[in-house]
Amino acid sequence: MSLEGQINKERLPQHVAIIMDGNGRWAKEQGRFRVFGHTKGVDTVKEITEVAAKLGIKYLTLYAFSTENWSRPVHEVNALMDLLVRTIKKEMPTLMKNNIRLDAIGNLESLPDRCLKNLKAAKEKTSNNSGMTLVLALSYSAKWDICEAVKRIALDVQSGNVRPDEIDNNLITKYLSTHGIPEPELLIRTSGELRISNFLLWEIAYSELYFTDVLWPDFSKEELFKALIDYQKRERRFGKTSEQLTP
Ligand code: IPE
Ligand code: IPE
Ligand code: MG
Repeated sequence: MSLEGQINKERLPQHVAIIMDGNGRWAKEQGRFRVFGHTKGVDTVKEITEVAAKLGIKYLTLYAFSTENWSRPVHEVNALMDLLVRTIKKEMPTLMKNNIRLDAIGNLESLPDRCLKNLKAAKEKTSNNSGMTLVLALSYSAKWDICEAVKRIALDVQSGNVRPDEIDNNLITKYLSTHGIPEPELLIRTSGELRISNFLLWEIAYSELYFTDVLWPDFSKEELFKALIDYQKRERRFGKTSEQLTP
């Protein structure tokens, strides 16, 4: 049976999050500059986004640029920002054709004006699309998001809108930039690195983690199918015993 045929469409994760890693190493393997790897990585973004939408996944969150990535060489940061602007413009028809809504999380105000402008326009234009939501994590880190949430909770406590004893899991979730997005059932990281790199720390508390050695530019739809098949074989116990799940 084909890989796609092995996926149970009734048991798809609602939300898949991906740490897209390995563009630089991919380029190096080809004897090219790192930026070439990022350009190739955009082709993968397009393929995986379309396939995920067609499969019926409701949310796809892609870690595109972390808070920590600002420390890269200036020319690489600039190239990534240019690529972002160009891609958003170029792929609008793809988003519209596939009924995909674009959303973004992160410190968006820290992005260059041209990026923010294009991002806002694309969000606006796709806001009525009702298929998959593509969430780009840009200038994002989980600790940044949690700090912002804590600041706003503190202000609401100060102004008397929130009582300290009301602060619980639910309330904190409401103050995060991922509010309204279900927690990812599956988190994928490419390129063989076994770490989270400050991505969605709160939201992945109970996610299934899938690591692959494949570098992001080589991550094909078959690789996504493999991750989904692997996910569907797992037993998600949420602290219970196996017996409690199958009475
Ligand atoms: C991921 O690929 C893309 C971004 C972080 C923007 P990298 O650029 O991290 O590639 P490697 O890890 O150096 O191979
Ligand atoms: C994580 O990749 C961030 C993104 C994929 C955007 P990095 O390549 O920046 O992660 P580290 O620094 O190697 O952990
Ligand atoms: Mg990397």
